[in-house]
Amino acid sequence: MYDIKNLVQQAINARSKALPTYSNFHVGAALLTDDGKVYTGANIENSSYSLTICAERTAVFQAVLEGERKFTAIAIASDGEALCSPCGACRQVLSDLCGGNIDVIMANHKGEYKIFKLSELIPHSFGEEFLKP
Ligand code: THU
Repeated sequence: MYDIKNLVQQAINARSKALPTYSNFHVGAALLTDDGKVYTGANIENSSYSLTICAERTAVFQAVLEGERKFTAIAIASDGEALCSPCGACRQVLSDLCGGNIDVIMANHKGEYKIFKLSELIPHSFGEEFLKP
């Protein structure tokens, strides 16, 4: 078992890297690989709003660029009281790159959290198997 509280704390800390120029909503993510490495990410907003990228995707893209392919869990934390839930686009990206079995730890700024399997959050997901003839 991994250290859930530590991963949540790393997501909380990663919020300081965010660039939420328009929303002022800081989000941090901490992605744990199967061999125990942690990649963090934060949201980066853009004046062309739809080009904004969420914390979860910056973390997973960074990890993939470093050659990582096997993941155990991702913790996500925002500024609010609410436990931060990954958006639909991030669920799809996580499903493709991490698989439905990873733990998604939704946290708030106080370190309170709830854990779901990604497959619960994106059932019947699209994936590479649909692209085969
Ligand atoms: N955001 C994330 O980074 N992750 C989430 O799980 C939800 C939303 C960001 C995108 C945008 O910069 C801001 O939060 C407000 O939507």
